[in-house]
Formats: sequence, C-alpha cells, structure tokens
Amino acid sequence: MSFDLSARLAARRADHLYRQRPLLESPQGPQVVVDGQPLLAFCNNDYLGLANHPQVIEAWQAGASRWGVGGGASHLVIGHSTPHHELEEALAEFTGRPRALLFSNGYMANLGTVTALVGQGDTVLEDRLNHASLLDAGLLSGARFNRYLHNDALSLAARLEKACGNTLVVTDGVFSMDGDLADLPALARQARAKGAWLMVDDAHGFGPLGANGGGIVEHFGLSADDVPVLGGTLGKAFGTSGAFVAGSEELIESLIQFARPYIYTTSQPPALACATLKSLELLCTEHWRREHLKQLISQFRRGAEQIGLQLMDSFTPIQPIMIGDSGRAIRLSQMLRTRGLMVTAIRPPTVPAGSARLRVTLSAAHTEAQVQLLLNALADCWRKLEPDHA
Ligand SMILES: Cc1ncc(COP(=O)(O)O)c(C=O)c1O
Repeated sequence: MSFDLSARLAARRADHLYRQRPLLESPQGPQVVVDGQPLLAFCNNDYLGLANHPQVIEAWQAGASRWGVGGGASHLVIGHSTPHHELEEALAEFTGRPRALLFSNGYMANLGTVTALVGQGDTVLEDRLNHASLLDAGLLSGARFNRYLHNDALSLAARLEKACGNTLVVTDGVFSMDGDLADLPALARQARAKGAWLMVDDAHGFGPLGANGGGIVEHFGLSADDVPVLGGTLGKAFGTSGAFVAGSEELIESLIQFARPYIYTTSQPPALACATLKSLELLCTEHWRREHLKQLISQFRRGAEQIGLQLMDSFTPIQPIMIGDSGRAIRLSQMLRTRGLMVTAIRPPTVPAGSARLRVTLSAAHTEAQVQLLLNALADCWRKLEPDHA
C-alpha cells in the first residue's frame, strides 16, 4: 500500500482549490515584483506600512550587530535575552496589562495559550469563523469544544449554559477573512456572567484600531476583567514577526510553565525584538498612518459600492469582495493580475463553502491614486465578469 497523493492533488485542482505560492521578488509594500511581474498589491497585512520601514530595518541591523543573529536556545534555557524582555515590558505597557509574553508566531501563541488554560473536563467555546490556529488549539486542548454562531452572543449564551469545568470563550478581534469586528462588549458580558474567561486574538486589530493603535479592546474601551487573555501578532501591522499574549501576572506565569509551544522552541532572534520595539514606537506615535488608512478605507468602500460589488460589514483594512464561486473568484483575481494588480482569491477551506472572495487589504503605505487604480480596474473587470454572474 502507498499514499495516493496524486489523486488528492488532482481532486484539489478539479475543485479549483489548488494553492500556489506566488514568488515575491521585492520587499513587501504596495509596489512589488511577483513571479517576475511588477504589480500593485492589495493583499498583504502590512496595514501601517512598517514592514519595509527604514527605521525598523536600522533597528534590526543595529540589533544584529549588538546581539547576533540567533536566539540560540529556548527562553527557559538561555534564549531569553534583554531585547525580548524589553519588548515584553513595552507590550505590557502598550496593552495596559501587568505582563506580556512573547511567542515566535501567532499560530504557536494560540496553540500554547488555549492548551495551557483548558484540558479534559473543561470547555472551550469559539466563534465558528475564528482563525484556523484558534480552532486547532481548541481541538488540541482535549477540552469540550463547541463553536457558536458567528458573532452571536445569544448562541454563545446557550452554549455557556451547558459548559463544564473551566470555560474559555475564544474569538478573533477582527475576523481575518471578513474584516468585521467581534461584538466584544456582548461576548464579554456573557462570559463574565458565567464565570468564563474571554480570550481575544486581535492579530488584525492592533495598529489600525483604537485611537493609539491599541486594537479592539481600546476601540470598545474594555478592561482586563472583560478580556483577561489578550493576544496579538507582530507580523501584520507591526510589520515584523512574532506574537504576544498579555494579561495578569498569574496568566503569564502559567503560560511560561504550561504552554508547550512556548517552552519547547528556540526564542526568536533578539534583533527581531529590537526591530519590533521600533515598530511599536512608530505604531503608537505616528497617528497619521491610522488617519490615512481610514481615508483609504472610505474611498475604497464608496468606489466599490458604486461599481456594485458586494462588500462585507467591515470598516477595517480588510475589505473582502464577496464572489461565492471559487472559479469566478480566481478568474477575477487573474483579470486584475493582467492589469498589473494583485488581489488574492480566498477559497474554501479557508472560508466556508460557497463564499470565495477577493480579500482586498489596504495599507497606510498606499496612496489615494493607487486605490483609484484598483477601483478603475475592478470596474472594468467586474463588467466583463458580469455575464456569467447574471
Ligand atoms: C487572527 C489570526 N491569528 C493568528 C494568526 C497567525 O499568526 P502568525 O502569522 O504570526 O503565525 C493569523 C494569521 O497569520 C491570524 O489572522
């Protein structure tokens, strides 16, 4: 007997679900070179335009000169260095929590946190549209795992009634493929009423949301009692890489003791923490980035609505255009590509069946003229795609 991988791959192709990796041959930014072609891109998560910022690069280079290039060991052995520690302190202050813990990436932060907090005999309740890393974490934890209807506090309340043991309610802050916000005040009320803990992964909210970039929690003015477990990633608006979880002294100490993806891995390069310290400073102080981004979002939504595109309920930099059929989503993405624009088609299983979409993302690094170019191209391509849409 052997693995029949070729049949699986062929089926994936036949379903229009085959995935390929575009080769980026330039730094991240609005203007990129992909597979040899210069393109104007609207698909990265570099919402504030910091991934290729000269000061962040300089901080990384200076960090490498001072601290070398490798973490060298796990945090608990001898890999926890001064830049990691300083970044944790800065992230704690930024989030207004007693402590923060640095992880190598968001996937590991989510796996580590959920599995450290709940296990057999406990309950984990998740929004059905949560990021894959949160859903995987819930399944891996061994706790009773249940998904409530998207952003529906009543559906959560019904599941909380049946929960047993320690109960963790888990949600994206900004939903990564839809761009809408979790109804955190309502979710927090339900969780608190039942003595459950709310964990929010605000990977896409830190930076663009809140007057100081403090994300969804700042946006809604929620306290640490409302959201005892607050996570974020550093590979999106921060422009670097890694992730963090912020919360009480006890929470962070528990993660250091019990979060296996924290314990059993090499620390991130200290120079990367130096770069993130700089990007955190820019994220907090350069308010014009958030303001400019807001204007681009309004411009895009106005223009897209005039074209008749189906947008989602989002005022964040994630502005998906709902298409439905995977084949059509790919065709529209390809048509844009021939006009020099890159917007990725997102298909199942990343999104539910029948809800393929073009995930447009905007960045403070874009100009109004670039957004207008996108709108012009969309108007043209959508007209040409229309006949088999009708
Ligand atoms: C909501 C959310 N959480 C976690 C992650 C994973 O973070 P990382 O890329 O740092 O692994 C992502 C995407 O990458 C995400 O969108």
